[in-house]
Amino acid sequence: MNVEQETRILGIETSCDETAAAVVEDGRRIISNVVASQVNIHAEYGGVFPELASRAHVEVIYQVVSSALSQAHIAAEAVDAIAVTRGPGLAGSLVVGMNMAKGLAFGSKVPLLGINHLEAHLYSTWLVPDEPEPSFPLLGLIVSGGHTELVLMNDHLTYQRLGGTLDDAAGEAFDKVARLLGLAYPGGPAIQQAAENGDPEALKFPRAWLEGTWDFSFSGLKTAVLREVRKRQPDIEAGVEAPRPGLPIADLAASFQAAVVDVLVGKTLAAAEEFQAREILVAGGVSANRPLRQAFQLSSKLPVRVPPLNLCTDNAAMIAAVGHRRFLAGQRDALDIDVLPNWSL
Ligand code: KG4
Ligand code: ZN
Repeated sequence: MNVEQETRILGIETSCDETAAAVVEDGRRIISNVVASQVNIHAEYGGVFPELASRAHVEVIYQVVSSALSQAHIAAEAVDAIAVTRGPGLAGSLVVGMNMAKGLAFGSKVPLLGINHLEAHLYSTWLVPDEPEPSFPLLGLIVSGGHTELVLMNDHLTYQRLGGTLDDAAGEAFDKVARLLGLAYPGGPAIQQAAENGDPEALKFPRAWLEGTWDFSFSGLKTAVLREVRKRQPDIEAGVEAPRPGLPIADLAASFQAAVVDVLVGKTLAAAEEFQAREILVAGGVSANRPLRQAFQLSSKLPVRVPPLNLCTDNAAMIAAVGHRRFLAGQRDALDIDVLPNWSL
């Protein structure tokens, strides 16, 4: 029986290259979930082009939010709160979602809640209403395009940051290595696909364990891939995307991916044991990676929660899921809050 207050929260997300809005009931049941991806716009540049991202958000935000509300058969006035990503993310992109949320909150006389995007990735694992709620303490791994963070959650909305990446985020490493191998943007899915025909043990790439810390580092791995590529194509420039005839792309991709997966899984399981977590949460774009999901399921003694694929990458349902918790906790933000592009957890 649900003894908690029932809520319907409108979530809005524009921190990077997805314009998204969703209506979520009780922080767990998705009523509508609309995501307009800008991948096609940015693919040409091999990464997110901030100016173009903000412009694209402006063009579609109104329609995306309207669709989320109409698909949920609910008016803005009838939601309990509007939860919007306040940070971290691209400043110009965050502002678009924030302004939309403020306007709606003001016009509809509904509370505004500014939400941390990293926190929201963790809460994407709650959006599976058929499963029992995760039990605390939880060990969370956030692996996205901009972040790699290990956090301990002893309760809702409380975070102890254990460590994070010292250089590239896991997703960033996928994106950069994909570019180096001449694969399409976003790099994660492209590497996963290329790796399907490769041997993960073909090349012995380094694993940066950084013993004694809960931190990560992927720059040495990236350099090792570059070195292998240069051996075969000495004239290659880092970061220049081009077709790569003659490169063992599948083996390079599979070996790189295996190195990332080993470290992410190894350190997360060690931290879960050390801090006596009852369950593990893995979230963020890279949690869509199939070998990573399989490795967690195979090697963890604890239950591992990974969001459904469509909720791994950026979406607004996860923003609304946190909104539910924060609304119940009494958060109400003023209509003049600013975005926080460098907000940490
Ligand atoms: O969480 P997200 O959508 O955006 C940020 O908050 O950054 O994560 C995007 C990142 C990109 O770096 C992308 O390459 C990576 O997630 N990604 C993947 C996969 N799908 C997306 N990485 C590895 N394997 C995948 N299947
Ligand atoms: Zn994200």
